[in-house]
Amino acid sequence: MAQQQQKISLTRYLVEKQRADGLIPGQLRLLLEVVARACKSISQAVNKGALGGVLGTAESENVQGEIQKKLDIIANEVLIEANEWGGHLAAMASEEMDSIYVVPNRYPQGEYLLMFDPLDGSSNIDVNVSIGTIFSVLKKPDDTPGVQEADFLQAGTQQVAAGYCIYGPQTTLVLTVGNGVDMFTLDREQGSFVLTQQDIQIPADTKEFAINMSNQRHWDEPMKRYIDECLAGKEGPRGKDFNMRWIASMVADVHRILMRGGVFMYPWDKREPEKAGKLRLMYEANPMSWLVEQAGGAATNGKQRILDLKPTKLHERVSVMLGSRNEVERLTQYHAEKA
Ligand code: AHG
Ligand code: MN
Ligand code: MN
Repeated sequence: MAQQQQKISLTRYLVEKQRADGLIPGQLRLLLEVVARACKSISQAVNKGALGGVLGTAESENVQGEIQKKLDIIANEVLIEANEWGGHLAAMASEEMDSIYVVPNRYPQGEYLLMFDPLDGSSNIDVNVSIGTIFSVLKKPDDTPGVQEADFLQAGTQQVAAGYCIYGPQTTLVLTVGNGVDMFTLDREQGSFVLTQQDIQIPADTKEFAINMSNQRHWDEPMKRYIDECLAGKEGPRGKDFNMRWIASMVADVHRILMRGGVFMYPWDKREPEKAGKLRLMYEANPMSWLVEQAGGAATNGKQRILDLKPTKLHERVSVMLGSRNEVERLTQYHAEKA
């Protein structure tokens, strides 16, 4: 009888990684298990949609002045409740909370800091388009007593784990702990994430770009030049035709890039010139940049590698260009030429 291929669950994967590479200490393993469990529960809520009464807008705004959706709040609560009691965390920070959430005194304090965008792609919730959860893990610096916001202000290079869970046609968890990017698909019958792709690699070249074209008139020159050249196609300086995709869920656009290459951009623009960009450094740009780099791609704000940026505040925003390496290098070069 042909031997059935053994499925590797996320739990087994983490245990084996802890044993073999020592990359995942016990507390971090627990943390990743708990985040995955929370994502399963968010996935359930997302799947129920109107039947679960989770669609629509809540009557509140987040710290960045955005109207919250019911699912933004639900996903945030699920992540907090799942993570506060396990003893693996010192504190959490979220796109949907004004300030950090310190683990309450009644629970033991762990050594990690967890940051998340509980529900990325909020504008897609009510129209049944892919959305996701993005997370990033840092170690709390051990030279400070207690925990404060300043402990979170570490460069992306300091991340010890990062990933996202996309709630699409499949629910898929994509993870890095610093030695490549692996992917797990939720098996709903088993109730567990199963390893479905290892060592994801982004091709260095691409013919696909993702940007919100409606902002074109607000971009600066290097950005306009890059996109103009893509649009000029075969007859233009690039000598090839490009294809465009914009899902408006970063998680879904980045997932496509991890699966088949491409470049994603949310650059600074003139609408609100004092803001560095729309996307958030700690909850979106850093985890995604690390995943992309771990898969052989690159990520920049146009001038600097995103992972090298030293955050100055929790909800800091940043200009983002990431994906296939040669395209990101070209973007960097165009920005340098202008400077
Ligand atoms: P969020 O839903 O967490 O606020 O993030 C939305 C972000 C990102 O996911 C997406 O790429 C971008 O905003 C979409 O922006 P536009 O509305 O300008 O297309
Ligand atoms: Mn987001
Ligand atoms: Mn969000």
